[in-house]
Amino acid sequence: MKNVLVTGGAGFIGSNFIRYLLDVEKNVQVFNLDALTYAGSLENLKDLPDPLRYTFIKGDITDQSFLDAVLRERQVDTIVHFAAESHVDRSILGPAQFMHTNIIGTFTLLEAARKYWLQENDFPRDQIRFHHISTDEVFGSLAPGEPAWTEETPYAPNSPMPHPRHPAITLYVRMVIPMVCHTA
Ligand SMILES: NC(=O)c1ccc[n+]([C@@H]2O[C@H](COP(=O)([O-])OP(=O)(O)OC[C@H]3O[C@@H](n4cnc5c(N)ncnc54)[C@H](O)[C@@H]3O)[C@@H](O)[C@H]2O)c1
Repeated sequence: MKNVLVTGGAGFIGSNFIRYLLDVEKNVQVFNLDALTYAGSLENLKDLPDPLRYTFIKGDITDQSFLDAVLRERQVDTIVHFAAESHVDRSILGPAQFMHTNIIGTFTLLEAARKYWLQENDFPRDQIRFHHISTDEVFGSLAPGEPAWTEETPYAPNSPMPHPRHPAITLYVRMVIPMVCHTA
């Protein structure tokens, strides 16, 4: 049985992913870690297929000791990370929460995984996976005809929003907003 930790599983994509995973993969136990911000709702997770293989855990990806305990207690070998502040318009009015969740939160989760998988347990590398779900402003864009990315492809943060009259604003949207809105 694989023990899959899904973060942000009460949100739009995460909840659909959990439903799909339980349906197609019979050999997984799913732990959904979500802070239930304004964007998350347990209503999205009603009538799951095979609910006995599903557990909801309310918590925050910025809380290192909490993550340490979850990974250890649930013996997590796979992380699928959706938890994020995801609405770009909100990042313009209030970027601090984006910095906290998307950057500090993702870093904290990576640290917890690194510690648990490589220091405490020394899991074989081919049995662990950290999937980061994000967006083209973080991963970059794939041109038509370009070969598909692999796990080795580096992140390429970018912003598609140049400002024609104000270079300072252009600099802000090209450099600061991608870093703040999306995990670098
Ligand atoms: N929705 C889209 O069309 C779309 C498209 C491309 C990429 N993405 C990316 O996919 C990812 C998920 O998107 P979504 O639309 O499902 O997002 P969403 O806003 O619907 O859901 C985010 C979930 O994360 C949870 N969350 C937020 N902060 C948290 C924290 N600190 N700790 C734990 N949980 C927390 C929320 O409660 C919510 O359930 C994001 O990185 C987003 O940028 C989304």
